[in-house]
Amino acid sequence: MPESRTFDIRTFGCQMNEHDSERLAGLFVARGLRPAQPDEIADVVVFNTCTIRENADLKLYSALGHLKAEKARRPDLQIAVGGCMAQKDQDRILERAPWVDVVFGTHNLAEAPRLLERARVEGPLVDIWPAPDPDAARDMAPALYAVRESDFAAWMTIQTGCDNTCAYCIVPSVRGGEISRPLEDLVREAALLSARGVSEITVLGQNVNSYGRDLTGRSPLFAELLRRLGEVEGLERVRFTSPHPKDLREDTIAAMAETANVCPQLHLPLQSGSDRTLSRMRRGYTAERYLTRLAAARAAIADLHVTTDIIVGFPGETEEDFRATLEVVAEADYDSAYPFQFSPREGTRAADYVEEFVPAEVVKERFLRLKEVLDRSALRHHEAREGLLEEVLAEGPSRTNEAVWSGRTRQGKLVHFDPPSGLRPGALVEVRVTHGAPYHLRGTVEGVLRPPRHRTRLSVLAS
Ligand code: SAH
Ligand code: SF4
Ligand code: F3S
Repeated sequence: MPESRTFDIRTFGCQMNEHDSERLAGLFVARGLRPAQPDEIADVVVFNTCTIRENADLKLYSALGHLKAEKARRPDLQIAVGGCMAQKDQDRILERAPWVDVVFGTHNLAEAPRLLERARVEGPLVDIWPAPDPDAARDMAPALYAVRESDFAAWMTIQTGCDNTCAYCIVPSVRGGEISRPLEDLVREAALLSARGVSEITVLGQNVNSYGRDLTGRSPLFAELLRRLGEVEGLERVRFTSPHPKDLREDTIAAMAETANVCPQLHLPLQSGSDRTLSRMRRGYTAERYLTRLAAARAAIADLHVTTDIIVGFPGETEEDFRATLEVVAEADYDSAYPFQFSPREGTRAADYVEEFVPAEVVKERFLRLKEVLDRSALRHHEAREGLLEEVLAEGPSRTNEAVWSGRTRQGKLVHFDPPSGLRPGALVEVRVTHGAPYHLRGTVEGVLRPPRHRTRLSVLAS
C-alpha cells in the first residue's frame, strides 16, 4: 500500500541535531511520507533529542507527556525518540514513557524509518548502536536529499563525534570519537548546494579545527577545506562552528583571512577565564593562550565578529575564579556570548566532583552578573555599527512581526528591516544600520544587490 502518512520531527539540540533532522526528513520523504501541516498532529512524530544539560532532558519528558493522551486516542500514531538523549538513556525512555514506539540513537539515524515500520508489526523497540559505523558516518549520503528549512542557507556536517575529554561534557560519550568526511565529498556537496541556489553554508563539527586528522593520520585539513570552499562557484558565505581554542592554528586563521567567502565570524568557546578551572575542565589551554590566539585572529581578519560559550559554576569555582572569567571577558570584548550554568551529566568526570558543587544560588548570582556584562558588551558592539552599510542575506518575515523582515550580515548579526515591495527570501540587500539593540540591529534597505539565487520550492514542501 502506498504510504500516505504525515511526519513531524521536533528537534531539541544543536545545529548538528537540526541538520540530522533535515536528513531524516529527507529519508521519510523518499519513503512517501509528507511533512505535517503546522496545525495538525502528524501520524509519525519523532523527537530528535539533546542531553547537553539537564533541562534538555526535562523538555523531552514534558513533550512526551503531552502526546500520551493523543496516543491513547489514536493507537496508529507512532512516536519515536532519537538523538543524544536516546543514545544516553536507551531503555530508560520506554520505561518512563511506554507509549513511545521506537528509540534510536545517534549512530543509526538512517535506520529510523525502517525501525518505525518494524515497530508497526512487532511493537515498541529500542535500537541503539554502541558506536558509529565509520563508513556510514563518512558517507552521510542522505545529506544531498535532506529536506532543508531554508532554500538559500544550509548546514554541512564535516565531522561527527569528538576526541576531546572536557570534564563536564557528555558529547563524546553520545556521539563517539571524531570521524571526518572526505574532503572531496564535502567540496562536491557544497558545489551541488550552490548549484541549487544555496548562498550560505555553515560548516558543522564539535571541533572543526581537527577536521581531517583521522583521514590523514596526522595533520588536520580544516584550512584546506576552507580554501577549497572558497573556490565553489556562487557560494557567497561560509561560516563554521565550533573551533576549539587549543587547536586554532595559524593556517586556519590565514585561510579565513585569505578566502573571500569565509565570513568574518569566530565562535571561540572560552568556558572559563580561570587557569585553575580550565585545567580541571581539561580544556588544554590557559586564559593567556586563548587571548593570544584571539588577538592573532583579530589582527589577521578585518572586522571579526567574536562570540563564545562560558560555563558558570563548574565544581570548585571560587569567586576569584569567576572574577578571572570576568576579566578575560572584558579583554576579549565579545560581540555576544552564551553563558550556561554548570549541569552535572551522569558519566562525565565533573559529575563526580559532588563535594565541590557550587551552591545553586551562587551559580545563579554569578550567571546574572556575567550575563549583565555580556549584554552590555553586545549592546556596545551593536551601537558601534549604527550608520554602517551592511550586506544582508534576507531571510523573510521576523518571528515576532510579519511586516518586519530579518536577515544576517556577513558577520552573522541579526538585522530587522522593512522589506521593499516584492522582496523575496534569499535576496541579498544593502541595509543601513539605524539602531543597535542588545540582541539585534535595526536598519533600512538602501538597495537590492541581487534577487534570490534559488528556484522556487520543491513541490514536496509546497504540498
Ligand atoms: N564542541 C563544542 C561544544 C558543544 S556543547 C565546543 O567545544 O565548542 C555547547 C556548549 O554547551 C559548550 O561550549 C559548553 O559551554 C556548554 N556545555 C556543555 N556541557 C555542559 C554542562 N555539563 N553544563 C553546562 N554547560 C555545558
Ligand atoms: Fe564537549 Fe569539549 Fe568535545 Fe566540545 S570539545 S564537544 S565541549 S568534549
Ligand atoms: Fe545536544 Fe547532542 Fe548537540 S547533546 S548539543 S544535540 S551533540
